[in-house]
Amino acid sequence: MNLAKSTYQRIVLVSRPKGMPTEENFELQTLPQPSPDSLGEDEVLVSNHYLSLDPYMRGRMSALKSYAPSQLLNETMIGATAGEVVASNYAGLKKGDTVTGHLGWAEMGVINGQQLRRIDTENIPLSAHLGILGMPGVTAWYGVNVILNAQPGQTLLVSAAGGAVGSVVGQLAKLKGCRVVGIAGGAEKCRHAIEHQGFDACIDYKQMGSKDLDKEFVLALSQAAPEGIDLLFENVGSSGFDAALACLNPHAKIALCGMVAGYNSRAEPLKNAGKLLTMRATLQGFIITEQLDSWPQAIAELTELVINKKLACRETVAAGLAAAPGAFIGMLNGQNLGKQLVRLAD
Ligand SMILES: NC(=O)c1ccc[n+]([C@@H]2O[C@H](COP(=O)([O-])OP(=O)(O)OC[C@H]3O[C@@H](n4cnc5c(N)ncnc54)[C@H](OP(=O)(O)O)[C@@H]3O)[C@@H](O)[C@H]2O)c1
Repeated sequence: MNLAKSTYQRIVLVSRPKGMPTEENFELQTLPQPSPDSLGEDEVLVSNHYLSLDPYMRGRMSALKSYAPSQLLNETMIGATAGEVVASNYAGLKKGDTVTGHLGWAEMGVINGQQLRRIDTENIPLSAHLGILGMPGVTAWYGVNVILNAQPGQTLLVSAAGGAVGSVVGQLAKLKGCRVVGIAGGAEKCRHAIEHQGFDACIDYKQMGSKDLDKEFVLALSQAAPEGIDLLFENVGSSGFDAALACLNPHAKIALCGMVAGYNSRAEPLKNAGKLLTMRATLQGFIITEQLDSWPQAIAELTELVINKKLACRETVAAGLAAAPGAFIGMLNGQNLGKQLVRLAD
């Protein structure tokens, strides 16, 4: 964002997608910049440097009832941001501080200072606070530590293994001494998971082409996890989830984090749900924004692991606000490796 200019840009949702979103669902608008002199009590003017793109945004674009309210039409698209304070009427923040918040798909914004978190960028880059040290990292930490309580020697399967959450899940589980198997779309994602993130095996579901996909998936899983699945971190739903149910060990635990395969279309029905009973499995769905008590510990532990280079951080970064709709659609299509971000300023 150019502070010398008198305008800034934002993106609003102008129509609700039917199926996969398209660029036409969004509109880039130019507005006058808020003046530092116009800030009210406790308000802060922030220049956004990075915007986080996340699958949950697809759910918010729908008018259907869910755990959170829908995105309003003709309003700035919601989203987490990381940036720099331009002016502040809030005692806890000053010009130049780096912060994260939820200013949405916009180059700048005004927000109450209590809704911002000041972050240290001395040892860790700003962008990481939206990924491995932000909501996706905390989600991975919570699932692995609290829901699954991963133990050495257990086999953990994670889907969307090349993405923001899945890549951290796999690395945390390896640090716990698990055998880690991933499912991801494409040879590059699988190679990256094994070579750079320590996965023991990774199944490329996009390589599967047989008429009997269910059987092919179960066969691939039983080869990658010959001793069965003790822990499942589920991000996708669909045929991979169904095949994983078929391979569960007795008393398996499942952290049901997301079902992204059903966000743009109707989720496929499960055929192997009976395994939840016969394997006496425990399945827990969770929404990480409801687990705020866990965030400080999660962020502290993740920060230490990143600083000590025990966790690798991978990002896919689009350039400029206008690229956000395309990058969001690309992320839903699996074009991201690691956390999908948009860089708005350096
Ligand atoms: N419960 C919570 O509080 C919480 C918090 C954060 C995220 N989540 C959920 O966690 C999951 C991962 O989120 P993320 O932020 O880490 O996103 P991400 O994995 O970085 O990006 C989404 C990935 O989903 C995969 N995907 C999309 N459509 C698919 C399909 N039809 N079949 C299989 N894979 C598909 C793609 O990877 P491939 O190339 O592998 O297909 C894509 O890269 C999502 O379901 C999200 O909603 C939940």
